[in-house]
This record gives sequence, C-alpha cells and structure tokens, in this order.
Amino acid sequence: MATIITVTLRKGGSGKTTTAVNLASSLAKHGKKVLLIDLDPQANATLSLGVDIVNTPNIADVLQGKHPIEHVINDPLKGFDLIPSNQILAQIEATLATDPSKYAQIIKSLLAPLLPRYDYILIDTPPSESMLTITALVASDYALIPTQAHYLAMHGLQQALDLITRVKEGYGANVEILGIVPTMVQTGTNIADMMIDQLKNDYPDLVLPYPIPHSIKLTESQLANEPITDYDPSHPASVAYMQLGKHIIWKEEDNG
Ligand SMILES: Nc1ncnc2c1ncn2[C@@H]1O[C@H](COP(=O)(O)OP(=O)(O)O)[C@@H](O)[C@H]1O
Ligand SMILES: [Mg+2]
Repeated sequence: MATIITVTLRKGGSGKTTTAVNLASSLAKHGKKVLLIDLDPQANATLSLGVDIVNTPNIADVLQGKHPIEHVINDPLKGFDLIPSNQILAQIEATLATDPSKYAQIIKSLLAPLLPRYDYILIDTPPSESMLTITALVASDYALIPTQAHYLAMHGLQQALDLITRVKEGYGANVEILGIVPTMVQTGTNIADMMIDQLKNDYPDLVLPYPIPHSIKLTESQLANEPITDYDPSHPASVAYMQLGKHIIWKEEDNG
C-alpha cells in the first residue's frame, strides 16, 4: 500500500516542485513504484517533466468527473508515473472552497483505488493554504516541507506546521510531519551554516540532514525536462535527493 507524501509550504519559490519531482525520481531509482501528482494549477511539475499541459488528461478532468483517475496516469519516461495538472484546477479549487467539509476528503477517496499499485504517492501543492493543499494533506500520511534556509523564508515554516495541526484537528487527518528540507543552500558559506543551525535550533528533530545545495543545474535540468537525478546524477544536488529518498525508505521500513 502506498505511503502518501504531500510537499507543501505556502511560500512560492521554496523548492516544493523541484523537491517533489526529484524525490519522485530518487524513490524510483531506489526501486520503488512511484506516482507524482501535480496538484498546482501552475502545473510546474508537469511542465518540468516535458508533458503537454493543454491536451493531456489531468487531475482537473478527474475532479470534474470527466475521467476516472486510472485514465489520467501519464508516463513521462523518468521511471515514475505522473498525474498532470492543468490551469482549470484554479477554478475547481474555487468550487472546493465553497464547502470545505464536503470536499476535504476528495483526494483521499480518489486515491483509494491506486494505493495497492504504488509504494509512494507524492503530491506537489500550490503556494497557498488552499483547499487543494488541505485535501492533499487530508489524504496524506506525511507532509514534507521544503524551505530556503534564509531568515525571511524560514518565517513561513511555522504557518506550514500550524496548517498541518489545523488539518489534523479540523478534518481528523492522520498526516504527520516527515521533515523540513533546507533547499537552495549556499553550501560552504558561513551564512548557510548559521541558517541551518538556526533551523535545527528552532525545529529540533524536524530538519532532515540532507540540505539541497543551490545550483543553476537545477534550473538547467528543468529546462531540459529532466530531474537532476537523470540530468547530472553525480551532482551534489542529485546525491542529496538520492539520500533524502533513501532516508524516507529507511524510516518507512523501520516503522513498518
Ligand atoms: N537547489 C536549487 N538551486 C537553485 N535553484 C533552485 C533549486 N531548487 C529550485 N530552484 C529554482 O527555484 C525556483 C523555485 O523552485 P520551485 O521548486 O519551483 O519552488 P516552488 O514549487 O516552491 O514554488 C525554480 O526556478 C527552480 O528552478
Ligand atoms: Mg511549485
């Protein structure tokens, strides 16, 4: 049965999509069956994997009842499956927001038939506390929180942790925090070390020990429509994402 992990933080540009895509690739390279769901109307994950967002059956079609979820599973040929997004998702989110208690469970019920097929289902979310994020968290076993390790970005973290608490209390969700992933870290600089220390001090036990280094190669790999783990497997960012994947697998196997 799949473990479901939502990648979330309200702040845009924190490395959510990059982490969702590269963690999907990492888990797949570790031999796991992985599905990535792009639940952001901006469709950055879909685009970065080279999938056409206009004509491809997508999660918005499923939410509108046009296709069963099994029919929108796409294979971008990166070792894992993808359910693409589409900008129509923004309109659907507005509908979901009209009745939160009715719609909070919608992703959970849609994913139920897919659980036996995968080891991991990753969900990339919009940079907001929208109903899309909430229904993803309600469906999830874990939330993974990527953040840039600088002072202002780190302010958004408490909001993410509070949202998870609210989703647990308000909707009876079982989601736990998998951890905080420091992203875009200027490795080798004093300021980066200070910020990571600060993070560990503020959130002991939550900061995962695999900071993702800042590198233009991440943007390059997205332009090439490839995870960094394919584009440049020996790059330090690939190594970090591979280690993060292994860490998650070990944690699961310990618990299981
Ligand atoms: N480790 C990194 N080093 C350099 N640039 C990065 C890194 N991770 C992400 N980026 C770039 O930063 C921007 C925002 O990242 P993204 O993953 O899309 O964030 P989010 O999904 O939280 O908005 C993108 O242009 C992406 O290419
Ligand atoms: Mg994103």
